[in-house]
Amino acid sequence: MFKSQKIYIIGFMGSGKSTAGKKLASLMGWTFVDLDKNIEEFAGKSIPEIFEQDGESSFRQIEAKILRNLNSLNHTVISTGGGTPCYNDNMEYMLGTGLTLYLKLTPGQLKSRLSKSKGERPLIKDLGQGQLLSFIEKKLADRERWYDRSDIIIEGIGLDVNMLLENVKSRLNI
Ligand code: S3P
Repeated sequence: MFKSQKIYIIGFMGSGKSTAGKKLASLMGWTFVDLDKNIEEFAGKSIPEIFEQDGESSFRQIEAKILRNLNSLNHTVISTGGGTPCYNDNMEYMLGTGLTLYLKLTPGQLKSRLSKSKGERPLIKDLGQGQLLSFIEKKLADRERWYDRSDIIIEGIGLDVNMLLENVKSRLNI
């Protein structure tokens, strides 16, 4: 059996982690958990409110704590936030406790997806359209050193969830 029965979906903001995670969980008959939603429930406020009122470092502390609180769950697909792997040894933790799966998109693909949903994301909400692409390029180049350590790296655009399912099953030996 592969580590514990958990799959972590990793990737930049806007890469479709929750959508892919939900589909995969449903095909596997596993539970789906959205880490950002659990953070909001724990804090009793939205992610933009946490960033505004308490600051990013407080958000990162809660994120690491909630991630570890999910440890007892089995047969669960967890979609993480774009920054999750990059703070507080979270990537190390996820590699040790489940199967990690990086949904990879190019900066251009991310930009066209994120331009529609900037407002709900504190790190990019104040960027103009002209600044968005260079922000993504820089941030992604920085973050890929964590993302690239994932057990499975898969293209996020045109994702075939049934193929992904077979890949995951063979990795998990189920
Ligand atoms: C963040 C991504 C967000 C959320 C928070 C910080 C990041 O999640 O966790 O706004 O640092 O990239 P999504 O990747 O689901 O947008």
